[in-house]
Amino acid sequence: MNLDKLITKHLTRYFDPSKRIPEETFQQLLRYLRSSPTTINIQPNHFHVLETQDGKNKLADALVGRFADNAEKVRNASHAIVFTTRKDIPDTHLQEIFEKERADGRFADPEIQKGWEAGASNFVEIQTENYGGDVLHWLEKNTYLIVGATMMAAASLGVDATPLEGFDRTTVDAAFDLTDTDYTTTLLMVLGYPDEARVSRQPVSRFDAEKIFTHM
Ligand SMILES: Cc1cc2nc3c(=O)[nH]c(=O)nc-3n(C[C@H](O)[C@H](O)[C@H](O)COP(=O)(O)O)c2cc1C
Repeated sequence: MNLDKLITKHLTRYFDPSKRIPEETFQQLLRYLRSSPTTINIQPNHFHVLETQDGKNKLADALVGRFADNAEKVRNASHAIVFTTRKDIPDTHLQEIFEKERADGRFADPEIQKGWEAGASNFVEIQTENYGGDVLHWLEKNTYLIVGATMMAAASLGVDATPLEGFDRTTVDAAFDLTDTDYTTTLLMVLGYPDEARVSRQPVSRFDAEKIFTHM
């Protein structure tokens, strides 16, 4: 990965519909995505992986009204991912995590696992209080971290990954049968290779270093 290139690069908005991410590359990216760490291993996500044109069209069709300009980005991308997040953390979810951790042998000593479980359950209570009961707000921060990390992982594989916040949550939730489920759409991601004819040649615009860094 060439960090200097990333520093001067615009996020890709227009993808070349003729270019597809090689299967092994995409699978590696999904393996990375699955491995992403979350607060107390809370794993609040479900990812809808759109790898067929039908799958991408399903999402694109849900991008209407003021978000219609994102539809073409989805249709032309090689792949797209709908990042969804749990709206709450019932005890059943915590127990599922703990069971999996025990099965995976996360801690060699069962007593340590037991202590971890008590601490993790308590942490959920603390965060629920910290966010005034708005657990989704907390959990979606984890989702955004995962999105950022996945963008960098994609870059390391030579793949462009652009997050899209321009969508109507209600409409996308309905398209993916999420309404009245435990999950809701947090962010979309389109992945692939740029349409070179439509890459912006203008400089990237960001605040000066003096404004955003305080060194001491
Ligand atoms: C979280 C996030 C959400 C974004 N959502 C959209 C989007 O819905 N549609 C879009 O065209 N670009 C989207 N972008 C791209 C930004 O608008 C773009 O990166 C920003 O304006 C800076 O432009 P540059 O990448 O060309 O320097 C998003 C970027 C981020 C980080």
